[in-house]
Amino acid sequence: MKKTVLALLVASSALFAQEVEVRNLDRMKNMQNMETALSMIQKGFLFDNIHVVTNGVKDLKVTALHTESFIKEGVTKEGFNTLVYAHQQAEDISELADRVLTAFEKGDRYSAANNYLQILSKCLSCHQTVRSW
Ligand code: HEC
Repeated sequence: MKKTVLALLVASSALFAQEVEVRNLDRMKNMQNMETALSMIQKGFLFDNIHVVTNGVKDLKVTALHTESFIKEGVTKEGFNTLVYAHQQAEDISELADRVLTAFEKGDRYSAANNYLQILSKCLSCHQTVRSW
């Protein structure tokens, strides 16, 4: 009897470890996709190609939606709700991405680049925050 319980425990924790690993992989993949989308936007600027900017913005908005996927549920010991924070960052990134496109469509490249930089700052500030988790 005891052996069965132990075997079950071992099996379920192995399963749990596997799930965590898969989630981590997804998280990394999603981050890499955001990087690709961001690079595409920059490429669109440099080649002055609205289609490339449009695709980059579209991809970024889709991937940003999944930003919360890696966040631990609930509140950390410092009383900081990481889930709420991630949602907010994802929303901000999506909104800024819209602004990039609108500005670029109007031919206002300076404003497009400025909004792009604000997106990059969002990425960097979360990464900095993450390191203190
Ligand atoms: C809400 C938090 C958050 C935001 C916002 C965020 N990231 Fe990340 N990012 C993470 C976490 C967490 C990791 C993994 C860090 C770790 O495990 O050490 C990561 C890692 C990465 C990595 C490294 C992936 C790898 O394979 O090593 C890249 C590239 C990246 N992010 C790109 C971006 C880009 C581009 C943006 C903005 C468009 C962005 N991130 C916004 C949380 C965030």
